[in-house]
Amino acid sequence: MFSYHCLNPIAEVGLDQFSTDYKKVEAAVTADAILVRSAAMHDMEFGRNLQAIARAGAGVNNIPLERCAKEGIVVFNTPGANANGVKELVFAGMLLASRDIVGGIEWVKSQSGETDIAKMAEKQKKAYAGTELAGKKLGVIGLGAIGVKVANAATHLGMDVYGYDPYISVQAAWNLSRSVKHIDAVEDIYKECDFITIHVPLLDSTRQMINKSAIQMMKKDVIILNFARDLLVDEQAVLDGIAAGKIRKYVSDFPNPTTAGQDGVIVIPHLGASTAEAEDNCAIMAVQEISDYMENGNITHS
Ligand code: MLT
Repeated sequence: MFSYHCLNPIAEVGLDQFSTDYKKVEAAVTADAILVRSAAMHDMEFGRNLQAIARAGAGVNNIPLERCAKEGIVVFNTPGANANGVKELVFAGMLLASRDIVGGIEWVKSQSGETDIAKMAEKQKKAYAGTELAGKKLGVIGLGAIGVKVANAATHLGMDVYGYDPYISVQAAWNLSRSVKHIDAVEDIYKECDFITIHVPLLDSTRQMINKSAIQMMKKDVIILNFARDLLVDEQAVLDGIAAGKIRKYVSDFPNPTTAGQDGVIVIPHLGASTAEAEDNCAIMAVQEISDYMENGNITHS
């Protein structure tokens, strides 16, 4: 048997098995396996015993993959385990971008104690009018576990859905609704869609894929959603696009100094996978992967 150290609390599940002292260095130096959420591990010293790292989530950009490969450390992620939580927040993002729900709520708050508030609201509501999702074109870039869920759910809301993924897996293709139009060139998504949502991993080939030239191809008033990784987007180019009246809104799940507090930007503090269900699913999958590797030598999702 081996013991677990928790570098970042990921779930209630199995917490009795975790040490909760969060002494990262000590854990990394003594552990056989590490289970981590989004804590950056690039500068961390690894001990001689370390054989595996499981990332409770999809993205592995917080893990030093090359160093792990050199040192023979197997890296796991938990694909799909938090996909539903992220999918649901993507739709919240679409609604926040197309209806001024937050502005309306803030107005109601500011009228606290006002006895005539119902009548006043009837006048005020014009200021918060929005647009609907139904009938709009949604481009989904990346048809992995999350992208497929977003694409399928959007068809049920009456959206006209375009999917792009040059590397779509057989499993994802099977899971994709027939109502989703499969597009061969990402440029067609840029040119056609009212909403564009990105669901690709951060790789050298995808870094800043949403850049000035991509934005130039987009329709006026496009809404861009980024629940994948902030470095996929040249956010300064997005801010320029907002200032120029080309982009209606940019919704990002990745707070940073470039976008925080800027007009036309809705930033959420990386909450996509922060649901009780997603955290449980990721924790369970990550622990199973590590156990199966440490006890049986089996490698899944590495
Ligand atoms: C992911 O890569 O799946 C997310 O970043 C998960 C998380 O919030 O930890």
